[in-house]
Amino acid sequence: MGSLPDAPIVHSIPVESSGRHRKPNHLNLRTSLSSASNGSVPRVRSDSRRMGSEGKTAPPPKVVCGDAGYVLEDVPHLADYLPDPPTYPNPLQNNPAYSVVKQYFVNADDTVAQKIVVHKDSPRGTHFRRAGPRQRVYFESDEVHACIVTCGGLCPGLNTVIREIVCGLYDMYGVRKIIGIDGGYKGFYSCNTVDLTPKSVNDIHKRGGTILGTSRGGHDTSKIVDSIEDRGVNQVYIIGGDGTQKGASVIFEEIQRRGLKVAVAGIPKTIDNDIVVIDKSFGFDTAVEEAQRAINAAHVEAESVENGIGVVKLMGRNSGFIAMYATLASRDVDCCLIPESPFHLEGKGGLLAFIERRLKENGHMVIVVAEGAGQELITESMRSMEHQDASGNKLLLDVGLWLSHNIKDHFARNQKMTINLKYIDPTYMIRAVPSNASDNVYCTLLAHSALHGTMAGYTGFTVGPVNGRHAYIPFHRITEKQNKVVITDRMWARLLSSTNQPSFINQKDIEDAKKEDEPPTQLLDEENSHGVGIHLDTSAN
Ligand code: F6P
Repeated sequence: MGSLPDAPIVHSIPVESSGRHRKPNHLNLRTSLSSASNGSVPRVRSDSRRMGSEGKTAPPPKVVCGDAGYVLEDVPHLADYLPDPPTYPNPLQNNPAYSVVKQYFVNADDTVAQKIVVHKDSPRGTHFRRAGPRQRVYFESDEVHACIVTCGGLCPGLNTVIREIVCGLYDMYGVRKIIGIDGGYKGFYSCNTVDLTPKSVNDIHKRGGTILGTSRGGHDTSKIVDSIEDRGVNQVYIIGGDGTQKGASVIFEEIQRRGLKVAVAGIPKTIDNDIVVIDKSFGFDTAVEEAQRAINAAHVEAESVENGIGVVKLMGRNSGFIAMYATLASRDVDCCLIPESPFHLEGKGGLLAFIERRLKENGHMVIVVAEGAGQELITESMRSMEHQDASGNKLLLDVGLWLSHNIKDHFARNQKMTINLKYIDPTYMIRAVPSNASDNVYCTLLAHSALHGTMAGYTGFTVGPVNGRHAYIPFHRITEKQNKVVITDRMWARLLSSTNQPSFINQKDIEDAKKEDEPPTQLLDEENSHGVGIHLDTSAN
């Protein structure tokens, strides 16, 4: 965290306590945080202004500092820029389904710690506002006109999130006007919309893909916000990856600039699990599970012939989480290659020597390769491509084909042994399946967190579990960098010990890891960026 600026901007935070709404003001901020910080007055800090993606100045992040190194990275609220917006009792209080719940609402002051492994003298560190229903809401049920859009690549669970936003708004908040935007961001200004009701979305979670359609790119802020205004939409739910969430952030900024009463919520989506801060992304569990089928097939093929090699390519453009977890889950994999661990083919300690050795030992083997692995090797050998897709992602060369070709070529040239290689590319088949049971429940919680947040007037936020607790996270926190497998963490060591493959780790990685082991004197700004939280704890034994 940077140091406090000379003249900090104080941002108001609407706080409800004991069932009464208080007007957002500086005093409330003190009151709300002082209980959590031994009565001393928290400082509110504004980091230097960032530029929005279209060159306009983005509003400063809402950062609140408390005692003992407590930092709340808060999310915007409609009351930050609308004068005295009216509030209403939360209709959930009258919902029979929730009548036995001991506590309807989360405590307005609850925050979720980003760092849960601490030492005696550790600062308390970064926190996010806890997600969940509030006592007072900023929208009347019949006033709400919600819209949902899905952007970017497919991912298991998209339909479940759509379904649960619709049913949640309908059943918990009595909302009746919900539309779906057709075909991603560009659908706001170039396509039709579709009315969404609990009936129309009833079975969609059993289907892969997204009933709304999707696309990459197409983000035109003015046209999108014009369309939101023209249609009278006042809650916008945007499901998509980091590029999409950046777009959502810019939409929110434009809405705020125009002074509109429109809440914007993002639901982060990436099958690659490469979003930072949150424990994991929806669809990831399903992808790991579905990948087992391809790995099993590769194993059966390889096992059935002499010197059989099964190569399976899995998704993972910049992060190898699917490959790593699929490998660890399967135990049939002899070698896992991911973007974070550069490898080499030739020479001592190279992949080809390892393949030869493993074939001699076992007579067959399985290699799992993430699509982003070895790109520097391929580019070197092919001297090509700096092209990007409509989301700005670098277009990758097919590492599976390249690897298979090089392995075949090596054994053909050396004539030491005849191999039998089968290459399986299940990437799009994995992405297109419906979400599994655990992802379905997870998607429900994401959808509910999002709609409780917008109903409570929060805006410009994304949702996700942080150490198992759902939180409202400012957009910039999840888009500033990507989550990567840390090859000096214990999880990668577990994988290496399971496959017995060469580590390909160089001396510099080891030295850097040793430096990181020195006990920290203060919390790192990037806490949690190395692991993926409680569900995917990379360091627990
Ligand atoms: O970003 C998620 C992802 O699934 C990547 O792993 C993959 O490279 C990409 O999407 C492919 O998507 P598409 O072919 O639709 O551009």
